[in-house]
Amino acid sequence: MKLLVTGGAGYVGSNCSARLVEAGHEVVVVDDLSTGHADAVPEGCRLIQADFADVASTVLGEGFDGVLHFAAKSLVGESMQDPAKYWHGNVVTTLRLLDAMREHGTSRLVFSSTAAVYGEPDDVPIPETAPTRPTNTYGATKLAVDHMITSYAAAHGLAAVSLRYFNVAGAQGRYGERHATETHLIPLVLQVATGQREQIQVFGDDWPTEDGTCIRDYIHVTDLADAHLLAIENATAGKHAIYNLGNGTGFSVLQVIEACREATGHEIPAKVAPRRAGDPAVLVASSERARTELGWKPERADIATIVQDAWAFTQSR
Ligand code: UFG
Repeated sequence: MKLLVTGGAGYVGSNCSARLVEAGHEVVVVDDLSTGHADAVPEGCRLIQADFADVASTVLGEGFDGVLHFAAKSLVGESMQDPAKYWHGNVVTTLRLLDAMREHGTSRLVFSSTAAVYGEPDDVPIPETAPTRPTNTYGATKLAVDHMITSYAAAHGLAAVSLRYFNVAGAQGRYGERHATETHLIPLVLQVATGQREQIQVFGDDWPTEDGTCIRDYIHVTDLADAHLLAIENATAGKHAIYNLGNGTGFSVLQVIEACREATGHEIPAKVAPRRAGDPAVLVASSERARTELGWKPERADIATIVQDAWAFTQSR
């Protein structure tokens, strides 16, 4: 298939583009390089440097079989301070994309949704049928896009899949996580091991969990990329399928830090700090639907593997 990847110079977008190319698809990346990196775009992909909202109609006019839409604003804290950036950047621009797809008859869409649409869950693991009550603007904008996609699929026959990521981590060779503003746990812990940071702050040790720190479901970016390939290839006309992507096992902040100590051989000093606003105590996915309907099977669920691959990437840079 000929596929357009928005945000293909970013962490998840570049990993998924590499997987699509490897599977034999033709990939064109649109990225404004505001947070992505031109050298992260895999070989064999054409890069168009632009804000996709400005060029969606022109580019799709070339003729594409599908779009994988990664380009988005994704910092929870920033979304609370500057909501307009998120409503415009995530919702308005995706609406333009959907209209351009309709205009040019582009039939398939895979959208990067998030576990943040669920907010504080009543029960874990979280199935796709759980109530959606986002606790931050980032999650609210992603949920709004999911609603838009549902109605476009029903009314216009779009074949759409939303993938709700839990905590994406790890790396695949040269495709890894490098954000100018880093907020994610694993890369921050690894910055302590490289000496860029003195210690890691643990945001709260009084949560209702076994060791008092928050629990998250870490998913290897390579397993995530496999799910995108399955999703674009199996999307069904007129249907908006929604899948949670996680491993179904949670690790606490302290367990992640310990895994990083083992992977790096560094003592990694940790200091307890106040809770971070908006953090749910426990987020763990039920990905049964992705397994049964998509045939997705994560191959790198082990936290040690996830951390080792992230560390190999960090060291390579
Ligand atoms: N944490 C620390 N110290 C740090 C950074 C993080 O203790 O310096 C803790 C957080 O409080 C949280 C856990 O580590 O308990 C993981 O935090 P991340 O920032 O790595 O990830 P989040 O769980 O906050 O967010 C991720 C994605 C979001 C998505 C969310 C949905 O980054 O985009 O998962 O589950 F919305």
